[in-house]
Amino acid sequence: MEGWRGVIAIDGPAASGKSTLARRVAGELGLAYLDTGGFYRAAALAVLRAGEDCDHEEESVAVVCRAAIAQSDGRTSLDGEDVEKEIRTQRVSEAASKVAALPGIRRILVERQRRWVEDRGGSAVVEGRDIGSVVFPDAEVKVYLTAASDERTRRRAAEMTEDTEPEEVGESLARRDQKDISRAASPLHRMPDAIEINTTALNPEEATGEVLKMVHGCRATE
Ligand code: DC
Repeated sequence: MEGWRGVIAIDGPAASGKSTLARRVAGELGLAYLDTGGFYRAAALAVLRAGEDCDHEEESVAVVCRAAIAQSDGRTSLDGEDVEKEIRTQRVSEAASKVAALPGIRRILVERQRRWVEDRGGSAVVEGRDIGSVVFPDAEVKVYLTAASDERTRRRAAEMTEDTEPEEVGESLARRDQKDISRAASPLHRMPDAIEINTTALNPEEATGEVLKMVHGCRATE
């Protein structure tokens, strides 16, 4: 179904299957794919490298303003260096959750994410927590992805780039979920116009099929 144009917003908690789904849908439709979590992770890494505290807004904003964060084919770089492996560590995951709660950081990164899509002709599959609510509230297709917490823990443990105990992964996931949902700045929630897909018992092909059906439906109503 190449030739479809628009934004497909995929939001949901950590390890609900967003990245796998977004990559597949983007591949099927010949669209660019943006992982906005990678931006928050790279921003956190920049703050950590600068020796600043990820809870301090003013210092963090000053660092992130100077940081060049880029992404291509789902790989994130910071100041020209591919940091894809480093940003998937437990230390950076915790730090990313902190910087993502700072309104000043969100303002900078939301602006850069919109520009990223604009630079690609305004069409992309974009995944995160606030895509359908804040970054692209007029997205043509909005998906809210969920999965049971045991399944999400299993998936996140499998994608970590270092050895971590499953209990530790589960606890960290629960802590960060809570932070994503309860923070004042752009909390994670399902928009009324988003379609919920529960991926606990779905394989990636099935989940992709569900989204492509939505895209078909959206085209039919044009
Ligand atoms: O999706 P992820 O786990 O890579 O995201 C990393 C952190 O960034 C996580 O704490 C949630 C936050 N995030 C966010 O607040 N808004 C987004 N659009 C994407 C990620």
